Amino acid sequence: MTTPTTTTHEGLRDIVASPSRICFIDGDKGILVYSGYNIHDLAENSTFEETVFLLWNGRLPRREELESFSAELRACRQLPGGVISLIRTFPRDIIPMDALRTAFSALSAYDPEREETSAEANRRRAVRMTAQCATLVAAIDRIRNGNELLESRADLSHAANFLYLLTGKVPTSIEARAMDIALILHADHEFNASTFAARVTAGTLADMYAAITSAIAALSGPLHGGANEAVMKMLLEIGSIENVESYVEKKLGAGGKIMGIGHAVYRTEDPRATHLRRMSEEVGKVKGSTRWFDMSKRIEELVIAEMNRRNKAIRANVDFYSASTYYMMGIPVDLYTPIFAVSRVSGWIGHVLEQYHNNKLIRPRSEYVGPSDLKWAPVDQRS
Ligand code: COA
Repeated sequence: MTTPTTTTHEGLRDIVASPSRICFIDGDKGILVYSGYNIHDLAENSTFEETVFLLWNGRLPRREELESFSAELRACRQLPGGVISLIRTFPRDIIPMDALRTAFSALSAYDPEREETSAEANRRRAVRMTAQCATLVAAIDRIRNGNELLESRADLSHAANFLYLLTGKVPTSIEARAMDIALILHADHEFNASTFAARVTAGTLADMYAAITSAIAALSGPLHGGANEAVMKMLLEIGSIENVESYVEKKLGAGGKIMGIGHAVYRTEDPRATHLRRMSEEVGKVKGSTRWFDMSKRIEELVIAEMNRRNKAIRANVDFYSASTYYMMGIPVDLYTPIFAVSRVSGWIGHVLEQYHNNKLIRPRSEYVGPSDLKWAPVDQRS
């Protein structure tokens, strides 16, 4: 077919681009499922390592499989020296997402199986990419702050080791579990913008580094992964609970958007927000102040009330409470989006492997709305 026959769907909303076995979302009912398992079940009972295995294999691992998969991930955490040297050349004030995009792309030059594109080689590459993404984010932060890089600890989980590499302190069990749950909740979300970007790139049969680099670029925008940072900046700008009401009134009154609220698919509460709300409160209590949680809760109540008045089903999304949770854990605000990538790299990879397995080049059409039948004129005769 050479001429598109259907109507234009701006933003491809509600267009199904491909079958997938990885993730199911019911936006009206607020249901999120990874390969058959409800996100609530996974957030309450699973670990990030187990969730990654699920996303890549379509089933939960048996004990020995989980042990060997976790060991494989632990064994691949170290970064190539060349990538560390590259990060050291970045200006100290580089935006961490820019650093991550560039450094992740550079990993390809050091891939020990660079020319190998078999399914087995891609699976081994998937493990390296997932393990190294966490180490990269920690290294980017430590290097920009002039801190020494730390050796990964084989006795720590993916989440706990990441926090250790970042902060230099072994996290408390609450901190480690909060990060583990955050990683589970962010791991996949069907054909969101960054995953779709990864699949578009993989669909050209470009390699996995190219696909994941595309995804990191797409994640960086404030309408996608960048929203969690925007939420914390908003909370810091508001400053205290007394200022919440006037801020929300002014923002919404001027037709502005409150970051971390609303979703392209959910028309009810984002099920991930339910867990992050609880975690924000819990971590706040353990750290001795629920100030940021309380402010978030008040903003949420006011926005929902106003949206109900406007007849709009707009609720908190995954970014709204992850902001205050990370803040209470002492994580720098500009690392929130890179941390999203530390988790989502697992989902991106699952989708890239699925795309390779049954590939079709992704190539939509546009509806041409520009001028037609114009006559070319020499450059000096143009008006
Ligand atoms: N604050 C205030 N109003 C909002 C809003 C928000 N966060 N999100 C959506 N709305 C309003 C829009 O202004 C629009 O109003 P209109 O119908 O009068 O034009 C209506 O709700 C629908 O919004 P729209 O932007 O068309 O929804 P969408 O489904 O296309 O977009 C988002 C979804 C995520 C882009 C949007 O909700 C948003 O920008 N949220 C803030 C950024 C964010 O948190 N992103 C992370 C997503 S996980």
